[in-house]
Amino acid sequence: MHAPLPRPDPAGLIAWYDRHARVLPWRARPGEPAEPYRVWLSEVMLQQTTVKAAIPYFHAFTTRWPTVESLAAARDEEVMAAWAGLGYYARARKLLECARVVAGAHSGRFPDQEDALRALPGIGPYTAAAVAAIAFGRRAVVVDGNVERVIARLFAVDAPLPGAKGAIRALAATLTPLDRPGDYAQAVMDLGATLCIPRRPACGLCPWRGACRAAARGDPATFPRKSAKAARPLRRGVAFWVTRGDEVLLRRRPPKGLLGGMTEVPCTPWSETFDLAEAATHAPIAGLAWRTLAGAATHGFTHFELEVTVMAAAAAPGTPAPDGHWWHPTADLARAGLPTAMAKIARQAGVQVTRHQRRPPRP
Ligand code: ADE
Repeated sequence: MHAPLPRPDPAGLIAWYDRHARVLPWRARPGEPAEPYRVWLSEVMLQQTTVKAAIPYFHAFTTRWPTVESLAAARDEEVMAAWAGLGYYARARKLLECARVVAGAHSGRFPDQEDALRALPGIGPYTAAAVAAIAFGRRAVVVDGNVERVIARLFAVDAPLPGAKGAIRALAATLTPLDRPGDYAQAVMDLGATLCIPRRPACGLCPWRGACRAAARGDPATFPRKSAKAARPLRRGVAFWVTRGDEVLLRRRPPKGLLGGMTEVPCTPWSETFDLAEAATHAPIAGLAWRTLAGAATHGFTHFELEVTVMAAAAAPGTPAPDGHWWHPTADLARAGLPTAMAKIARQAGVQVTRHQRRPPRP
């Protein structure tokens, strides 16, 4: 029998964090209070994407809307366009709804308790716990994918995800300290993002190495265990890339449903039984000479894979845009608010869409 391992020490991890915390634009500088608006905004973005991808969006949002009141006063379309590329657009709608409730009913101040945060639009258990801990120093159990991996390894949790979520959460709760819970939460997330990474964990550098059951067994990368995933179905369709001189035809998607209210390149419906032969019946403008471009744009949505063939045609000067459509300068597509699937369709037509640029963090 091996000697029992010591309990992982939260204070030891916080000491590691004091030395190695990543410098991130939403983090308060040492000794300064965190700004709840910035913490909330970053946590909502980080549910959607990686830290690296979130940074330029965070700068763009906070430059344009530095306070929750300014975001609350923004037009829906502006916020949706600024969110374009992050995906899951229902989250952006809820973000704006939440900003309006905080600016209105809460006089611009985020509630400082986990359960009151949970009552706000778009704030689920993760965001409520993260904001309560990081912005308000409340003891809250913050569990995201990185934390699940760290905890599953520390305790060598044998049950697979997603079924093991409850057990992992309960184990995470046993470690969450009363002292500096916000720094502790961020420390576990940083550990998961920098050392306790999915494939080749850097156990030699880990402050919790001596307490980690998976490391002691010698197979940390096999945790967390995962149930076999169901394959996502493939949906196919055609996008119509219609140019008129140096402009391209765009339209808005219906307000409800997938990519609701977002700008798109006109498309056929996307389906598992799509037939290329009937694509032309969906063309936004009749009578054009269509070319089918080689290859296809592909994009992974949560519940299906999409493969879109692009058909291109040039409309004569002066051709009016059909109802619900408009001509947009092709060189300015970055500002059209195209979701990623649509940016990929533009790329397929030879136009690169570059959105928010990276900018250095505030001094
Ligand atoms: N991932 C999500 N939120 C985070 C945070 N506050 N710090 C580090 N990684 C994160």
